Amino acid sequence: MQKDVIKIGFLGLGTVGGGALQILQQNYREICRKIGAKLEVKRIAVRDVKKTRAPEVDPTLLTDKWEHVVLDPEIDIVVEVMGGVDLARQAILQALENDKFVVTANKDLMAQYGQQLLSIAKKQQKNIFYEASVGGGIPLIRPLKHCLAANRIKKIMGIINGTTNYILTQMAKEGKEYGTALAEAQARGFAEADPSNDVDGWDAAYKLNILAGLAFSGMIAMDDIYVEGVSKVKLRDIRYAQELGYAVKLLAIGAETETGLILRVHPTLIPLNHPLAAVENEFNAIFVEGDAVGEVMFYGRGAGSLPTGSAICADIMEAASAIKYEIKNNVIEANFVPKKVVPMEKQVSRFYLRLKAKNEPGVFAKLATAFGEERVSLDMIIQKRSDEQTAEIVLVTNDVTEGSFNQAMAKIREMPSIQSINSVLRVVE
Ligand SMILES: NC(=O)c1ccc[n+]([C@@H]2O[C@H](COP(=O)([O-])OP(=O)(O)OC[C@H]3O[C@@H](n4cnc5c(N)ncnc54)[C@H](OP(=O)(O)O)[C@@H]3O)[C@@H](O)[C@H]2O)c1
Repeated sequence: MQKDVIKIGFLGLGTVGGGALQILQQNYREICRKIGAKLEVKRIAVRDVKKTRAPEVDPTLLTDKWEHVVLDPEIDIVVEVMGGVDLARQAILQALENDKFVVTANKDLMAQYGQQLLSIAKKQQKNIFYEASVGGGIPLIRPLKHCLAANRIKKIMGIINGTTNYILTQMAKEGKEYGTALAEAQARGFAEADPSNDVDGWDAAYKLNILAGLAFSGMIAMDDIYVEGVSKVKLRDIRYAQELGYAVKLLAIGAETETGLILRVHPTLIPLNHPLAAVENEFNAIFVEGDAVGEVMFYGRGAGSLPTGSAICADIMEAASAIKYEIKNNVIEANFVPKKVVPMEKQVSRFYLRLKAKNEPGVFAKLATAFGEERVSLDMIIQKRSDEQTAEIVLVTNDVTEGSFNQAMAKIREMPSIQSINSVLRVVE
């Protein structure tokens, strides 16, 4: 018999949970009409049941025991929006064991245990929906899973961390130093008190793991992804990049090549006329290139209460439809296979390098020789005098393997005329 009332339990009612609940309340009729069933929020687990909540909730729904949600036999869908990995994993496993569909926004969890959890869900003839885990309100998981499913995806590339994009935008546009831009991002709620997950690149790497797993059907471990954050990017580099015709962005790049997968997150110089260069502040944008569809781009707010809540609600609606129409075994992304990953040394990039050298004749020639011996050719070079004794040199190489570039750099570091290597960044055309 088809269910007419589908019951939901929340684990967490913070930024994302609160946003999802607000949308469920304000668009209740439309949402129920689309599903063809009523939704009822039956229980909400939080840490502190006494906290004042917005939107307001009936206090009798609140509990500080997550087990009350996952073990409640009447609850059909568990919405995990409390974050963290171990407890969230335990709660989701118990929810699946207890025959519930799961909706989550938890990228850390899905990047590390998603494939395992999805195959358990499949065995239970249930499903886990995780649209909110990448790109907040931007549809990304569903397009990769469904709309682009017939394509062989060649490449995904994008800005998938709003915090670092906000910081880099403020540096580029307002001339702020990194520390000032970070403090402002914290004050405006775009960065957490401990910003390391964002600024060290891990948040983007978790999201890349999830997207690349879907795009390339690969079993991807976090260790497979090269991760470098933005904390070493200086305003000076952003200014030089602009002079050379580039913007600096934290890019997540995934590609499938003949020699294996390329998986990396790092600050990158991209041409100022590239669409990603125009993505500012907390916005996210992702390019996907499929063999049939060509290039598609997704753009929007990658985080925040209502944008992320919008993705959570869409997932609740999909789960509710599956329950209402008794759709079983619809985990379509459980056929992941092991894939070779191209070691960083063998990956090809262009490089931006900023260094200080003694202001003496022959320095350029020595640099050119060190690069030439490793078959690294130079595309652009700028020299500016810092003072009487020192010159600042900025150069951009042509395509080179990381291995060759590093060997050339080892030689350059040993040169007596080189005083300091101040910055090395990758360049994508
Ligand atoms: N914020 C975003 O824009 C965003 C975007 C995409 C994805 N996400 C992901 O969404 C998840 C939630 O993020 P958030 O920003 O909404 O976090 P948050 O504002 O800190 O909210 C966490 C909620 O979980 C509750 N909670 C924490 N530990 C609990 C426990 N042991 N038992 C019961 N409840 C517990 C908290 O209770 P109290 O309210 O009582 O403290 C709070 O309601 C995370 O996985 C995050 O990565 C967030």
